[in-house]
Amino acid sequence: MSETNYDLIVIGAGPGGYVAAIRAAQLGLKTACVESRATLGGTCLNVGCIPSKALLHASELYEEAHGGSLAKFGISFKDVKVDVAAMHAEKAKAVGELTGGIEFLFKKNKVDWLKGHARFTSANSIDVNGTSYSAKMIMIATGSSVTPLPGVEIDQKVVVDSTGALALPKVPKHLVVIGGGVIGLELGSVWGRLGAQVTVVEYLDQLLPGMDMDVRKEAAKIFKKQGFALKLSTKVTGVSVKGGKASVTVEPAAGGAAEVLEADCVLVAIGRRPNTEGLDLAKAGLETNARGQIEVGHDFQTKVPGIYAIGDVTPGPMLAHKAEDEGIAAAEFCAGQIGLVNHDVIPGVVYTMPEFASVGLTEEQAKARGEVKVGKFPMMANSRAKTNRDTDGFVKVIADAKTDKVLGVHIVASLAGTMIAQAAQAMEFGATSEDIAYTCHAHPTHAEALKEAAMAVTGKPIHM
Ligand code: FAD
Ligand code: NAI
Repeated sequence: MSETNYDLIVIGAGPGGYVAAIRAAQLGLKTACVESRATLGGTCLNVGCIPSKALLHASELYEEAHGGSLAKFGISFKDVKVDVAAMHAEKAKAVGELTGGIEFLFKKNKVDWLKGHARFTSANSIDVNGTSYSAKMIMIATGSSVTPLPGVEIDQKVVVDSTGALALPKVPKHLVVIGGGVIGLELGSVWGRLGAQVTVVEYLDQLLPGMDMDVRKEAAKIFKKQGFALKLSTKVTGVSVKGGKASVTVEPAAGGAAEVLEADCVLVAIGRRPNTEGLDLAKAGLETNARGQIEVGHDFQTKVPGIYAIGDVTPGPMLAHKAEDEGIAAAEFCAGQIGLVNHDVIPGVVYTMPEFASVGLTEEQAKARGEVKVGKFPMMANSRAKTNRDTDGFVKVIADAKTDKVLGVHIVASLAGTMIAQAAQAMEFGATSEDIAYTCHAHPTHAEALKEAAMAVTGKPIHM
């Protein structure tokens, strides 16, 4: 059997893998990237970040026109309608342009796309659909897939996962979301804005696990105000489907009387798990940890020299930008350079309205490490939020009580996803709250709320 040799083969062309492949090629390595999907870009571009944000944007426009936000500003319409098929078509265009763009970048940078499913045959060779390839280095960037809920079958019609929820042909009357995490709230928001009644069933006592407790409590208030029914501390014990409708049986997480929720559609969004099935890791001398992830060192190398792993298949937050940054750093290590990712400063954003964004430690985590000072500023007191009538939320800055170094920033605001970049950069440069407070911020902007929250760390906000 013929065998092609590369310096580096990357398995998986998601934001981790495609970015790593391009950087490696830029650094002079002969590089190939294996992808089994029909298009490049992985979960993020095909069935994740990109299509979800297209639908979030579209549904927000509808909500503004239909729900009265624009009418308040004197802009009214006679007949506001939703054409779900047109919405999906526009989403598909954005996805197609971006996935096609990566194919173009592969050609431009001379990265070979090996089409098919890769499995290891040894520590430096793989099989892709019957053809063998070898490489000095192999990088695993196989990403993650939806975690199934035992006993609940996904039919992508009545019971859907995130991929199905991104393609519903019509607005359901009642959508039950299992899991009050990022996917449940983002996709629940899409269909809720378009007219569905949304019930979120969450096992824990608050939404958005992992985020700062103030933010989680605010999320519950905001989503209730938006009309979501929240069933917190509640577990699903069964889902049955009959005649195109679902019956979801739930009971208190601590045990108690069961209740049945009737729904037109059920979204299962209880997390994602790493993709390692069918990789034949053992042939390369590798195994997964208890959480199914591939462990790596500071240089993204696994325990087998020459085999690297990045992105969702490794420990850490399952986020596209984390995968991308790891891809760049790992490729730089492969090329004999030093790559850097600061895992303490990786922002996370929930793209609902308002958005929920955070970077660094939560107040609970920071307090567990030592004494802290906290400054908080409400968006209600921010002039631009007032003019735009989007005053939900706050900015919270957590600083070390002794050194004033910023340890974490948490933002609930319409533009939180954009505002958090400034906080991440400040933290990357080791900023104190005083550094942010004495940085001139343009007026009137939502970003001024970050400056005021930083001023509040030492008790000196102006507008409160
Ligand atoms: P993936 O993007 O999962 O890519 C891995 C690729 O490897 C896949 O294309 C897969 O087909 C391929 N592959 C797997 N095994 C093999 C094999 N053996 N051979 C060949 N190919 C293989 N993150 C954000 O940061 N922001 C967001 O707004 C956001 N929104 C999301 C919305 C949804 C609905 C979902 C589901 C996820 C979202 N995410 C978001 C998470 C984000 O998509 C992932 O963190 C990111 O895609 C991980 O990148 P990756 O490169 O590690 O893996
Ligand atoms: P998640 O981990 O964010 O939330 C899952 C939720 O389901 C948790 O609150 C958990 O307590 C709950 N849960 C688990 N089992 C349950 C059960 N049996 N019954 C009821 N509730 C249960 O996972 P999600 O929303 O599926 O998203 C997966 C990952 O995808 C995210 O963690 C994130 O990394 C990524 N993502 C990122 C986005 C972004 O950055 N904006 C958007 C969408 C996804």
